[in-house]
Order: sequence, then C-alpha cells, then structure tokens
Amino acid sequence: MKKVEAIIRPKDFDRVKSALKQMGIVPLTAYPVQGRGVQGGVPPYDLLPKIKIEVVVKDEDLEKVVKTIADVARTGTPGDGKIFVIPVEDAIRIRTGEKGNEALY
Ligand SMILES: Nc1ncnc2c1ncn2[C@@H]1O[C@H](COP(=O)(O)OP(=O)(O)OP(=O)(O)O)[C@@H](O)[C@H]1O
Ligand SMILES: [Mg+2]
Repeated sequence: MKKVEAIIRPKDFDRVKSALKQMGIVPLTAYPVQGRGVQGGVPPYDLLPKIKIEVVVKDEDLEKVVKTIADVARTGTPGDGKIFVIPVEDAIRIRTGEKGNEALY
C-alpha cells in the first residue's frame, strides 16, 4: 500500500476527485493548506492556498492514480503542484476489522 499525497491548485480539486472516482477510487482525505514551492510564493504572498489530497492505494493502482492526478492538475506553469508517495504499513477498517488492501476500497 502507498499513500499518495497530492498538493494541487484548488481549482483542480473537483476534477481530480471525479477522475479518481471514475477509476473506482472513492475514499480520500482532503484539506486546504498553504504552501510554497521552489519559487517561494508569489510576491507579496509568501504562501499560496493549495488543496492537499491524501489517498491510500493498492500498490497495483499507484501508477495510474499518480498519472491521473498529474494529468488533471497539469497546466505546464509553475505552481501546478507536487505528488509524494509514501509507503503504508497497514490499514484497518474499524467497522469490520478488515486489514491491508481489503480495508482500502
Ligand atoms: N519539497 C516540498 N515539501 C513540501 N511541500 C512541497 C514541496 N514542494 C512543493 N510543496 C508543496 O506543493 C505546493 C506546490 O508546489 P509547486 O508546484 O510550486 O512545486 P515546485 O517544485 O515549485 O514546482 P514548479 O516549479 O512547477 O512550481 C507548494 O505550495 C507546497 O505546498
Ligand atoms: Mg513552484
């Protein structure tokens, strides 16, 4: 399992959500954040508003999830966002006790 953390432009959030849902990946966590990349914001703003999406996926789905998010969020200009991939040791669905891939989606 991998956790995909994607920090994207707020305007792209609805389309990323829809694209993930279309590939059968409905569960996710998202929250508004402020951040900066290598350019260090846009004067006079030190930090810019972004949306951070966290979705834990099966290893077999990782590549297509990353590609889908990147394809939807890419404009080709600075600030399009960044995706981090983090190994996940386990997942537990509290209601049923299912673990690992079975607990994801
Ligand atoms: N190394 C990092 N660590 C933590 N967060 C980061 C990092 N790089 C980018 N981010 C987050 O991602 C957001 C978008 O980053 P951004 O797309 O500007 O990256 P970049 O490396 O500057 O690429 P670009 O040159 O295309 O702008 C930032 O506002 C910040 O929240
Ligand atoms: Mg940047």
